[in-house]
Amino acid sequence: MKAEHLEQARGIISARRNRARTMNDERFAEINSRIPEIAEINRQLFQTSRSIMQIIQSGESTEKRIEELKSQNQQAQLMVRNLLKAYGYPENYLDMEYVCPKCSDTGYSAGTYCSCLTSLAAQIAANDLNRNAQINLCSFDSFDLSYYRGRKTESGYDCFKAMEMIYNFCKEYAAHFSKDSPSILMYGNTGLGKTHLSLSIASAVLEKGFSVLYDSVINFLRQVENEHFGRDQSGNDTLSMLLECDLLILDDLGTEFDTPFYQSAIYNIINTRMNRSLPTIISTNMDWNGISHKYDERITSRIFATYVNHHFVGYDVRILKAQQKRSGSKN
Ligand SMILES: Nc1ncnc2c1ncn2[C@@H]1O[C@H](COP(=O)(O)OP(=O)(O)OP(=O)(O)O)[C@@H](O)[C@H]1O
Ligand SMILES: [Mg+2]
Ligand SMILES: [Zn+2]
Repeated sequence: MKAEHLEQARGIISARRNRARTMNDERFAEINSRIPEIAEINRQLFQTSRSIMQIIQSGESTEKRIEELKSQNQQAQLMVRNLLKAYGYPENYLDMEYVCPKCSDTGYSAGTYCSCLTSLAAQIAANDLNRNAQINLCSFDSFDLSYYRGRKTESGYDCFKAMEMIYNFCKEYAAHFSKDSPSILMYGNTGLGKTHLSLSIASAVLEKGFSVLYDSVINFLRQVENEHFGRDQSGNDTLSMLLECDLLILDDLGTEFDTPFYQSAIYNIINTRMNRSLPTIISTNMDWNGISHKYDERITSRIFATYVNHHFVGYDVRILKAQQKRSGSKN
C-alpha cells in the first residue's frame, strides 16, 4: 500500500472523528438546555469522572471506591437514557456516533490498521489508477442500439436482437453487481461497443462503492512489469490491486506482446481471481480460435468454462458515427 494513499485515508478518517465529536458536543448542548434533569446528571457524571481521575493519580489503594463510582456512573447513564426516551429522543442520542464503531474512527484497532483505513486507502488508490481512463465518458444512456438495426451477421443472425440482449445483460449486471457476480468475456470486431459497455459497467459499479480497476491489458502489464523489475519506485503494488479489487476490467486482451512474463502475469491474474471467485470482465478482438491459439490451455479452458460469453456483432460504430457526422444527420 502506498504511503500517500494511506495518508489521504487517514485524513478522511480523522475528519470523520472530528465530525462525530462536534455532533456529540452539539447534542449535549441541546439536551442540557432542554432537559434540566439530564443537565444535572451530566454535571454529576463530570464530577464523578474527575474524582476517579484524582483517585487514580493519587495512587491510593482505593479500588473499592473506584468500583463504587463506576457503578454510580452506570446508573446515571441508565437514568439519562430513560429520561431521553421520556422526552421523545432516541435513548442513544448522546452516544458517540462513529462511522466505524470498531476503531471509533481512529483508523487503528487491536494494535494495527483498522479495515476501514485499509479499504479506504485501496479505494483511493483505485480511483488514482482510473483517473486516466475515460471511465466517465461512457454510460448506458449514451449507448444507442439503433446502430445495430437492419444488419445481419454472416450467418443471418439479427444484430439488433443480439446486441439488445447484450446491452440488457450488462445493465442488469451493473445494477445487481456483487462480488459473486460472474465474469464476462466480450469478444468481437473493432468498434462494436465492447469498451463502451465495459466502461458503463465500471462507472455504475464504482458508484455503488465497489473497487473497480479498468485499463487495457497492455497498460496493466507494463505497470506490473515495471514494478516487478524495480523500474517503478513509487511503491505501488498494482499486481495486488489487480488480484484483489472487486471488479477488474481487462480491455483489449491479445494486443500485448508474447513474453513469458506477460503470459504468466495474465495467467496469475485470471487464475487467482477465479479461485477467489472475484468477477473479471475481459474484452478482446480475438474469437475463440484466436484466444485458444494465443494462450495456454490452462487459461482458455477456464475462461470458456466459467465466463459468460458475449459475441458483439454489427458494423463498426466508429465508422457509422463518422459517416453520420459528415452527412450531418446525427452528432
Ligand atoms: N451502441 C453505441 N452507441 C453509441 N456509441 C457507441 C456505440 N458503440 C460504440 N460506440 C462508440 O464508438 C466508439 C467505439 O466503440 P468501442 O470503443 O466501445 O468499441 P470496441 O468494441 O471496444 O472496439 P475495439 O475492439 O476497437 O476496442 C466509442 O467512441 C464508443 O463510445
Ligand atoms: Mg475497445
Ligand atoms: Zn475502523
